[in-house]
This record gives sequence, C-alpha cells and structure tokens, in this order.
Amino acid sequence: ISALSKMRNIVLTGFMGTGKSSVGKLLAQRLGFRYCDLDARIVEEEGISINEIFSRHGESHFRALETSAVRRLAQEQQCVVSTGGGAVIAPENRRLLMEAGVVVNLTASVEEICRRLREETDRPLLRDNRSEEHIERMLAEREPYYAHAELRIDTTGKSVEDVVAEIIVYL
Ligand code: S3P
Repeated sequence: ISALSKMRNIVLTGFMGTGKSSVGKLLAQRLGFRYCDLDARIVEEEGISINEIFSRHGESHFRALETSAVRRLAQEQQCVVSTGGGAVIAPENRRLLMEAGVVVNLTASVEEICRRLREETDRPLLRDNRSEEHIERMLAEREPYYAHAELRIDTTGKSVEDVVAEIIVYL
C-alpha cells in the first residue's frame, strides 16, 4: 500500500449486512492496522446493546452517540474503522469520515443482504420488517450518501478474502 494510505485510516461504510465488520477485521490484520468498530465502541461505553439504546432512548440519541464516536476518529491513525450503516446520513459525519481517511463503501444486492440478515436480532431498524421491499427502500434513500466513497465494492457472492484483496490493491 502507498505511503499516504499508511498514514491514514480506512473507513468502511455500507448498509447493514454488507460485511463491514468481517472485512474490517481481516483488512486490519493484513495491513497491521488496529481495528475499530464504532457500534461496538458505543455499546461498550454505554454498557447496553444497540437494541436497548434505541428502545430506551430513541434513534436520535443513538445518532448523537454515533456522531460523537465519529468526531473522535480525527485522533486516530492506522485504524480500520467499521461504521454503522446509518453513520453516513448526517452531513457532519460524512465530512468527518472523509477527513478521517480513505472511505470505502461496501455494497451487496438486496437479496444477499436479506440472506445475510435473516437470523439478525440486534438491528432495531429491521426488527419489525426485514422484507426485501423495506430494505430496498432504505437502500435507495441512503444511496446518495454511500456514493460519496472513494472506492465502492460490491461484495455479492464474494468471500471476505476477495473483498479484502480488492481493497488492498486500491490502497
Ligand atoms: C444502523 C446500522 C447498525 C447500527 C444501528 C443502525 C443503520 O450498524 O448502527 O442499528 O441505521 O443502518 P450495522 O450496519 O453494523 O448493522
């Protein structure tokens, strides 16, 4: 990877189920970078699950915690960061994520996302509705925000290894 990439962070964005965490962990290992999962950080700091944060305090409270976690990325270096699927919605977050490093957006087909999230229980936004129509609608709303990335990779039908290799070639 280039000297410039070595001085920055790699920020993974993408819808739920696009593989940000699995790709992030392996990518960090391959690059010798630290791995940082923004949602896991929030859960650790709050001491309750994402579901509980949503049900006790509401989505807007979660978004505020998320923005505060994104702000703190400015202090990081050589970190592979996986963000929550909605982290790109707030304009401030998008700006901060781009400043924090190389933004890589992972995508997958609606069918693949549904398959990967079938057994899902800690995703409050999909608790009541996991249909392809619902996911398609959310994807369409968020598409302009995901499209901001420097690099976009379709993970449909690919292994974690394949996706990591594609990212490394780009860096
Ligand atoms: C969300 C995605 C989740 C988590 C929260 C909200 C979203 O992260 O941040 O449930 O708005 O898409 P993952 O993308 O890691 O599932």
